[in-house]
Amino acid sequence: MVGAGHVGAMTALRLAESDLFSEVALVDVVPGLAAGLALDMWHGAGLYGFSTRLSGSDDLVALAGAEYIVITAGKPRQPGMSRTDLTAVNAEIMTSVCRGIRTHAPNSTLVIVSNPLEEMTHLAAQQTGFPEERVLGMAGVLDSARFCALVGLTGKARPQEVRAVALGSHGPEMVIPLSQAFVGDRPIESMFDAETLEALVERARESGGEVVKLLQKGSAYFSPAESAVTMVRAMVRDSGEVIAACVRSRGAYGAVDTRVGLPVRLHRRGLKEIVPLALRPAEQQALQDAAARIAARIAELPVPC
Ligand code: 2OP
Repeated sequence: MVGAGHVGAMTALRLAESDLFSEVALVDVVPGLAAGLALDMWHGAGLYGFSTRLSGSDDLVALAGAEYIVITAGKPRQPGMSRTDLTAVNAEIMTSVCRGIRTHAPNSTLVIVSNPLEEMTHLAAQQTGFPEERVLGMAGVLDSARFCALVGLTGKARPQEVRAVALGSHGPEMVIPLSQAFVGDRPIESMFDAETLEALVERARESGGEVVKLLQKGSAYFSPAESAVTMVRAMVRDSGEVIAACVRSRGAYGAVDTRVGLPVRLHRRGLKEIVPLALRPAEQQALQDAAARIAARIAELPVPC
């Protein structure tokens, strides 16, 4: 874990609880923060029921030997900010972190959480030089979960019964293809009218900002953390489940080659394959448009010195 803020700390705790690993190492630039949080979590190990060891450091050397690294380092949004407003400050942080990872954990697989998500995922791949398959952005799992949870608020289904996949960007170009959304085996469009569904999609797209506005200081962390854990668990278990992740598109879905949320299967080392869903023409066009706008933003990224 790089970043011991709310998302990083919650992710570390949930990974420790999963007992999937011998150790979870927390790293944060603030002296003592990661070590203090790791010790606090370990104090609860008997109560939580896990045996995963926890460690904390302010030095990236602590990542040596890591199989997976979840990167939450960077500033969170404040009210009124877009994720893109974080680009300059978080690009600098991401560049520095990834140069350290290239040195200390060259064989790790990365799950990027820092925003703006697509740009930070691109930078992580560029600055580590890792194979594309080992650099994944976490957004679609979170955005899909939010849509499912919002459907749950209608009272017509429990979130666990809803299946949907959020693609495109972790932002205004988010695409939730309703042709791929179900409640149990029922197409969601057979249960809700178009206006209701569009409102649910729009609220899912804006959910991050909705939480930021309510918190007034910082952004969401419980559901982003569990989303990152879900991706790591899918890799470790080689589950073969179809999830949404920000990956290098390489022309999939006719999209320009960039970093974009796509349906994928993961395996132990990272991306196994991009999954071809039968999207409607309008859904595929929206995904292509999202990729084009992401590519334009990535092209504008400052070149790290
Ligand atoms: C969110 O959507 C922090 O980007 C994250 O809440």
